[in-house]
Amino acid sequence: MSVHIGAQPGDIAERVLLPGDPMRAKWIAETFLQDAKCYTQVRGMLGFTGTYQGVRVSVQGSGMGMPSASIYTHELINEYGVRSLIRIGSCGALAMDLQLGDVIAAIGSATDSNMNRTRFDGLVDYAPVADFGLLRTAAEVAERHGTALRVGPILAADAFYTDRPDLYDTLADYGVLAVEMESAAIYTIAARYRARALTILTVSDHLKTGDKMDSAQREQGFSAMVRIGLDTAIAGAA
Ligand code: HPA
Repeated sequence: MSVHIGAQPGDIAERVLLPGDPMRAKWIAETFLQDAKCYTQVRGMLGFTGTYQGVRVSVQGSGMGMPSASIYTHELINEYGVRSLIRIGSCGALAMDLQLGDVIAAIGSATDSNMNRTRFDGLVDYAPVADFGLLRTAAEVAERHGTALRVGPILAADAFYTDRPDLYDTLADYGVLAVEMESAAIYTIAARYRARALTILTVSDHLKTGDKMDSAQREQGFSAMVRIGLDTAIAGAA
C-alpha cells in the first residue's frame, strides 16, 4: 500500500488511464476491460486493473486539480512501477473552431499553478509537454478510428471558476485550445521520474459560446476518447 492507493505491489499495470472522476474509472473498467478488479477504494478514489485486447491495463481516478493528480501520478510511478500514464478527461474550449465532443491531445500544458514555480524556485518557466511517442501513437490510433484528433497546447488551471476570463482570451490569442486542471502536473512528474504521459480531452463545454454537453453527448464523446486512450496505452505491448 502507498499512502493514497490501497494496492499491493503488482496489482497495478504498467499502463494506466487516469480519469479525474473515480466513477468514470469504474465505468471504463466495466465497459471496456475484461476481468477488471478494484484494487483501491482509499478516499473513494477507485482504481481497477483488467485486460484490454489481452494486455493488462489499469484505470485510476486522479481527482480534480493538480495537487490531487500529483499525488496519484507520483505514487503510481514510484510505488507501483507505472511507466505510461494517459489522462482522459473533459475540458472547456477556448478556440472558436472547437465544438462540443471534439477530442484534443495536449502537446503541451501552460499553467497558472504555483507548483512548478516552487519546484524551480521561480527561476524557470518549465514547459510541461506530452511524451512524443504516446502523442504520435494517439494521432495514428485516432486516424485509424476515424476520430478527428486536434493536437495543440492547453491550459492547466488551478481554478475552475476564474475571476480572470481576460487571461483566457489572451491565451486563446496564443493558440491555447482549451482549459482543464491536471495535465501540467502529470506531465511534469512523469518527466521527473522518466515515465511517459499524455493528456487526451473531450470538449464538454465551450467557454466562449457557453455551450455545454448533455449527459448523452458526454457518454458518446467520452467513449471515442477512451478508445483512443486504451489503444494508445496498449500499443507496442508484446
Ligand atoms: N475549466 C477547467 N476545467 C474544465 C472545464 C473548464 O471550463 N471544463 C471541463 N473541465
